Order: sequence, then structure tokens, then C-alpha cells
Amino acid sequence: MTRLAPQSQRRTLGATALTCFPLAYGLWRFAGTSVKDARAKIEMALEVGIDLFDNADVYGCDGGGAFGDAEALFGEVMADAPALRERMLVASKGGIVLGVPYDSSAAYLRSAVEASLRRMQIEVIDLYQIHRPDFLTHPAEIAAVLTELRDAGKIREVGVSNYTPSQFEALQAHLDFPIATHQPEFSCWSHEVLRDGILDQCMAKNVTPLVWSPLAGGRLAMSSADAKASPDGPRLAATIDALDAVARENDVPRSAVALAWTMVHPAGVIPIIGTQRLERIRESMKAFDTQFTRPQWNQILTAAQGYPLP
Ligand SMILES: NC(=O)c1ccc[n+]([C@@H]2O[C@H](COP(=O)([O-])OP(=O)(O)OC[C@H]3O[C@@H](n4cnc5c(N)ncnc54)[C@H](OP(=O)(O)O)[C@@H]3O)[C@@H](O)[C@H]2O)c1
Repeated sequence: MTRLAPQSQRRTLGATALTCFPLAYGLWRFAGTSVKDARAKIEMALEVGIDLFDNADVYGCDGGGAFGDAEALFGEVMADAPALRERMLVASKGGIVLGVPYDSSAAYLRSAVEASLRRMQIEVIDLYQIHRPDFLTHPAEIAAVLTELRDAGKIREVGVSNYTPSQFEALQAHLDFPIATHQPEFSCWSHEVLRDGILDQCMAKNVTPLVWSPLAGGRLAMSSADAKASPDGPRLAATIDALDAVARENDVPRSAVALAWTMVHPAGVIPIIGTQRLERIRESMKAFDTQFTRPQWNQILTAAQGYPLP
């Protein structure tokens, strides 16, 4: 039977000239350590081949820190080791404002990009993403400010995150360059994008899906016993069992199977890993040693959704 396996070749981001390794490193949980520890994570990611770093201005707030903390720590790493900048694509996001909570107005995004550049101590953001849709800003206004920022050399390409396919289309209709990336949540546990049109849109329009929380924020790495005791109980435990069966067969860790499960989708998914442990950054490469049969891939999906495919 044909086996599905993730490909390790570099990917082009949408219809742009940017390319990256097919796994990315996310900085949501990055703030709150020393510059030395932070630099070690960036260097480990680069060492194993990962060269797209996904930041956001709001990252840091969740870990008891403040708005801008993850970008600022990343900036300290850039100041400590400036040569690293040449080896990476820096992605960031703006448009979430605590207490508002969304603002993609031109005035706000203009100031947000300046602030992100300052904090990260870099000259240009390679991929600037609108973090969440703002219902109160017309897409023509967002398109105009993204175009202005791109023309000014402050951002190179743009992406969207947590956008629906129609929100994507509305923004694209006002841009005269292509949106490079969609950033939705995707894992075998959170698999709405298989059916909500986002991955179809990526394939139809040559847009790269950069997906967040590919291990469901760590849920897919839980022990079977903890999974059974969790609110999602039997369904999470069955998902873990289905992942473990493939992990045993391929002699790889379960986390690698979960990453690979997203990557074999034909849309060319790039999962953004979120671990803060050096050994787990390296371990994520085992995703490329993982193969599935179609029934195995579908068994993981049906265990996670809790009902069979028709
Ligand atoms: N656009 C958005 O709205 C949005 C939302 C959320 C996230 N994101 C992006 O997606 C990135 C990844 O999200 P995420 O951190 O939730 O990803 P994830 O990879 O699904 O989860 C990472 C979490 O799982 C834990 N974990 C436990 N066992 C693990 C194992 N064996 N291997 C790896 N991790 C294990 C990690 O803990 P340890 O650190 O202890 O390993 C970490 O807390 C973020 O950094 C951010 O860039 C974007």
C-alpha cells in the first residue's frame, strides 16, 4: 500500500520568493528566560534546519509577562548574535490589543510594525501577519497599509492568521500582491481546516498553510493515563493510542507522528512547533522518519473526531 510521508525539501511561501524549511519554530511560549537560554533555542532550531521563526507582538502576556516580551527577548538574541539574522525568516503578527481586543486599522498597524521592528532589533519583518480578523476595519484599509509598509521596506510579505476563507478573499481583493500564508490551528485533534475551506483555499490559490499548535498545545503529548482523566477522556486517549500505534511501527516519538500527520496533507502544511526544550526541538525532526498508510492516517482522524468517516 502507498505510504504517506512528509517531505523535507524547502518550501516556497505562497507565490513569493521566500523559502523555508517545512517546520517552523513558534515563540508564543518563548518569553521569560535569560538571553542565553533564548539564544540556545534559536540556535538549536537553526542547527536542525528550522529557519522560520513565528513571533507576535502580543506574545509574552500569557506567561505572566507583558505585551512585547517575546519580541523583545528575540531582539536581545539578535543583538547578542547579529549574524543569526542572515540565516532566518522572521515572521511576526499584529492586530491584537489587550482589552480591545482587535485593531487592524491603518494607524494602529503602522505603529505596531514600527514597535515590532524596534523590539526585535531588525530592519525588516519577512512575513507580517494579521493576527486575528478585525470586524471593524474594511479590508481595503488593511490592504492599503500593508502595501504602504511593504513599499517602505518594513515588511517583505504578508500573511493572515485565524481568518476564514472569505475574510482572506476580501483582503486579497484589495491587494495587488498575493497573500503568502494562512495561519490556522491544525492538528489531528483540532482538524476543522480539513473541512472549513482553509486548506482547500491554500491549494486553490497557492497559499502556504503555517499551522499553529500542531500538538494541540501539548495535549497530544500527554500520557495515556492523564488523557483518560482529562475532560476529553476517552476520545483523547483513543487519539493518543492511534498515534502511538504509528509511533511504534516507525520507531519515532508520538510527537513526531502528530507533526507528520499534519504535514502529509497535500496542501503542504508547515507546522509551527512550540516546545521550549532543546531536545524536543531536535526530536521534531523525527517527523521526517514517519510514514502512514491511508487507513492509519484516517484512524487517527476518526479517533480524534469520535465518529467514523461515512
Ligand atoms: N496565530 C495564532 O493565533 C496562534 C495561536 C497559538 C499558537 N500560535 C503559534 O504556534 C506556535 C506553537 O503553538 P504551541 O506552543 O501551542 O504548539 P504545540 O507544539 O502544539 O505545543 C507545545 C507545548 O506542548 C508541550 N509538549 C509536551 N510534550 C511535548 C513533546 N514531546 N514535544 C513537544 N512539545 C511537547 C510543550 O512543552 P515543553 O516546552 O515543555 O516541551 C509546549 O508547552 C506558537 O509558538 C505560535 O508561534 C499561533
